[in-house]
Amino acid sequence: MNILLTGATGYVGGRLKERLLGRSDVRLRLLVRNARKLRGALPSSAGVFEGDTFSPASLAPALEGVEIAYYLVHSMGGGGHFEKRDLESAVNFRDACIDAGVRRVIYLGGLGRKEDASPHLRSRIETGETLAARPDRLELVWLRAGVIIGAGSSSFEVMRHLIEKLPVMIAPRWVRTLTQPIGVEDVLDYLVLAKDVSLADATVVADIGSEAMSFREMILRAARAMGLRRILVPVPLLTPRLSSYWLALITPVPYAVASALIEGLKSETVVQNDNAAKFFPQVRPAPFEETVRRAMESIARGQIISRWCDSSGGESCDVDGREESLEGAVYRDVRRRSFRGLPADAVFRAVKSVGGKQGWFRFDWLWRIRGILDKLAGGYGTNRGRRDERELAVGDKLDFWKVADLREGRRLLLEAQMRLPGRAWLELRLEGETLVQTAFFLPRGWLGRLYWYAIWPLHSLVFSDLIRGVVRLAQSRFEDAGGLSAES
Ligand SMILES: NC(=O)c1ccc[n+]([C@@H]2O[C@H](COP(=O)([O-])OP(=O)(O)OC[C@H]3O[C@@H](n4cnc5c(N)ncnc54)[C@H](OP(=O)(O)O)[C@@H]3O)[C@@H](O)[C@H]2O)c1
Repeated sequence: MNILLTGATGYVGGRLKERLLGRSDVRLRLLVRNARKLRGALPSSAGVFEGDTFSPASLAPALEGVEIAYYLVHSMGGGGHFEKRDLESAVNFRDACIDAGVRRVIYLGGLGRKEDASPHLRSRIETGETLAARPDRLELVWLRAGVIIGAGSSSFEVMRHLIEKLPVMIAPRWVRTLTQPIGVEDVLDYLVLAKDVSLADATVVADIGSEAMSFREMILRAARAMGLRRILVPVPLLTPRLSSYWLALITPVPYAVASALIEGLKSETVVQNDNAAKFFPQVRPAPFEETVRRAMESIARGQIISRWCDSSGGESCDVDGREESLEGAVYRDVRRRSFRGLPADAVFRAVKSVGGKQGWFRFDWLWRIRGILDKLAGGYGTNRGRRDERELAVGDKLDFWKVADLREGRRLLLEAQMRLPGRAWLELRLEGETLVQTAFFLPRGWLGRLYWYAIWPLHSLVFSDLIRGVVRLAQSRFEDAGGLSAES
């Protein structure tokens, strides 16, 4: 069966890719905006097509000969007008599927009723309606899920950070709204089975979830499953804006994601039909507490397959590791350090482990303060950490950076995602037995130029310490391993 998967660099699609690759009955194709963001090795039978749902011409080659296509795409991280873009994307995809003779589209949207849905949820419902609008030519299995419980899912990460950091929580009154969470493994079971399910009508809408509960109950039950006792007090005075600032500050999500989550609290997201049991009787969604425990185990083992911040969110893929982009940088801070006597692979392993739990060496506290300022300005701050404490891949987010380029053993290029009056990159490159670290800055207007000079004394401290710290880390790991390379 030829299957096309979209969204393979995203949270759900990244996991579904792993599931489908393991199946002998599936010949998998991936449609991605940037193939360099795909993690892990792909078998030679898997086809990778670079394309974009806003470019219909790029969809045709990917869909040729395809029977089933998964639609796991949205434009919600790109600021305003996402509704319009989501509709355009769905129309393009539906029409391209019809032209290519695709038999079935499988789409995962959100739970909720259109009448009282938040703008994000409404957009997800309209996407489903668009995909379902040509039942004469295209089947649609439309799964609808609420909060997904799994390591790296945005709602789960927000809940986990609140629970871990705050023994007593005050919350807006909408925490009494009902929701019906589901574990990510169950979502994947439904998605995989959806390719084979027999349909009576061209479209089936199946709402999926474990048990219905209020958001308040969800947080308190998750806390208990994590072995913690928490108190949650709903307060009528907490406005959406205040609650969003609070979430953004305490948890890894930036203000925009926090305010979408808070907005979502106002709409009930519970299962509206029993089609999941009818069409997928094999799936028995795991109890809520079990899904929380599984997510916590994955985090403890450092096995986070995908995260909420993996996708670019915006209109185009935001990973840009091209040398040309750096040529326009007006300011550069270049530092060099010899690592003679150390194996280059040990040094590159140290390069790849900066940030996250490892931190930023002696001036970690300065980076953290910068992170808090960034959070206050609506940015990501540093508490996104890393998906994996040792390994990196293009597109991975690392505190307030993202990996723009990674050439094993040679070069790591990070692009700043912090709020800045310009664009900034940090490059760590191995040249012979020298580590070369360059900070690039492309200022926006006079404010950008002013920023570079104003911050220069601090940059001087943190950048000189960073290169020293990386070589020291490589050295100490090398010595701890008895002079052998750190991994061996
Ligand atoms: N995550 C949840 O908690 C949750 C809960 C309920 C329902 N859902 C539904 O599940 C679906 C997938 O969500 P998700 O959380 O996995 O999303 P996500 O992590 O944000 O991933 C979105 C994916 O779409 C790709 N993409 C965006 N615009 C594109 C375009 N124009 N052309 C091609 N690819 C494009 C992104 O690629 P880049 O990497 O290039 O950006 C990324 O791979 C959505 O419909 C969502 O409503 C998710």
